[in-house]
Amino acid sequence: MIRKCLFPAAGYGTRFLPATKATPKEMLPILTKPLIQYGVEEALSAGINTMAIVSGRGKRAIEDHFDISYELEHQIKGGSKERLLTEIRSLITQCTFSYTRQVEMKGLGHAILTGETLIGNEAFAVILADDLCHDENKSVLEQMTEIYEKYQCSVVAIEEVPIDETYKYGVIAGKLVDGTDDTYRVTDMVEKPEPKDAPSNLAIIGRYILTPDIFDILRETKPGKGGEVQITDALMEQAKKGKVIAFKFKGKRFDCGSVDGFVEATNWFYNKMQ
Ligand code: UTP
Repeated sequence: MIRKCLFPAAGYGTRFLPATKATPKEMLPILTKPLIQYGVEEALSAGINTMAIVSGRGKRAIEDHFDISYELEHQIKGGSKERLLTEIRSLITQCTFSYTRQVEMKGLGHAILTGETLIGNEAFAVILADDLCHDENKSVLEQMTEIYEKYQCSVVAIEEVPIDETYKYGVIAGKLVDGTDDTYRVTDMVEKPEPKDAPSNLAIIGRYILTPDIFDILRETKPGKGGEVQITDALMEQAKKGKVIAFKFKGKRFDCGSVDGFVEATNWFYNKMQ
């Protein structure tokens, strides 16, 4: 069983400056809901109710969001707007939230290692809230927990991307697991390859299930591409032992860390609401 979900949320979000100068990227809303709330709802849908958030300087709004605001509650009590707080209130009662700070932004791998103190020695999920995922039937993380239960090793979510976009992602090579058309045993991984160096067009998106040995591996992982500690490099160590599954999830994914993806998600959720 996966009980905990880690949210690395310490990045600077420079692509959204100046909006992210004093507001965490994870608090930018798609319609009326911040990105990180979509992520927490997805984790909860997968049966996970312990949220572990790696934050950084200027990210206090995230803590305040997952807390009661007595003044506000008092102000709108009994009025027509009270229903707007129903979803967030329900999350606050169903989940626990704990926080740690990444003091220096040394990359996603380093952010995940920083979360060790909140996770301990058990397999855990990771959600990058700026990758917003949606599926009508079963959330992406729920699909992944089922894969984890079957294979009992790390799992990464993948999707096919245009080959000229491989430089934005970790890209895998793998062999389809017998009898499936969406589940690969990973044999190779390259962080942000140029198209000519990409082992495939199967890109890792912001959903992972990691076994806890990843922490020891991350401790030994040297900074890689871009001078950052890359989770891809650490996962490659597990992949060498056949211990990483890549799963082509069902559903949609919006790259809300980019302005184009953010606008696309906004339009898509708005149209869905009509
Ligand atoms: P991104 O590559 O999207 O970086 O990180 P970013 O800094 O947030 O955004 P830009 O590129 O400057 O616009 C992917 C995820 O990893 C987290 C980010 O918060 C985001 O969820 N991250 C990245 C950390 O928590 N710490 C880091 O040191 C780096």
